Amino acid sequence: MSPQTAKKKTATKKASAKKAVKKRGAAATSTNNVKPKLYASLVVQLLSLLKGEHDFVANAANFSALLFNSLPNVNWAGFYFLQGEELVLGPFQGNPACVRIPMGKGVCGVAAQQCETIIVPNVHEFPGHIACDVASNSEIVVPLFDGERLLGVLDLDSPTIGRFDDQDAEGLNELVTVFVAHEERLGP
Ligand code: SME
Repeated sequence: MSPQTAKKKTATKKASAKKAVKKRGAAATSTNNVKPKLYASLVVQLLSLLKGEHDFVANAANFSALLFNSLPNVNWAGFYFLQGEELVLGPFQGNPACVRIPMGKGVCGVAAQQCETIIVPNVHEFPGHIACDVASNSEIVVPLFDGERLLGVLDLDSPTIGRFDDQDAEGLNELVTVFVAHEERLGP
């Protein structure tokens, strides 16, 4: 587990924050169960990848590779971890990205500061969006918590406008919960 965390949140605030999803614009709402089935399958695959392994970086790297290779229309998938008052690039798949993001800056910094999942249907309409890959047009950022501590964020980009919806938010939140619970269970 990364020791580089500082933000303390109340249990109540965190519990509600993890469920909160803020949409900056008109995110699509899916009515079929294709995505829930895919995410359920990803939970099984993630558990298999994590089984018996407690190296945090290795597990985060495999988690990002699983997402990048399993989710359609995704051109970047990876982590930023909290170090002091900024987010620092962690394991990811996709083009090289900016290394440090101050809290409150960009989609990642806002999601981390507000402790909420943020769906951005069109990144070009998000004030302060940090463009790491010119191909990216939509984005979802999910905060990670270790108990009450903010660990960082999971960030996914897509070249497709409106790629991410509430079903993605729900599926990705479940996956990060599985991921962090595994790390907590095995310890350093
Ligand atoms: N777009 C992000 C920066 C990270 S890259 O997308 C990989 C942001 O605005 O925070």
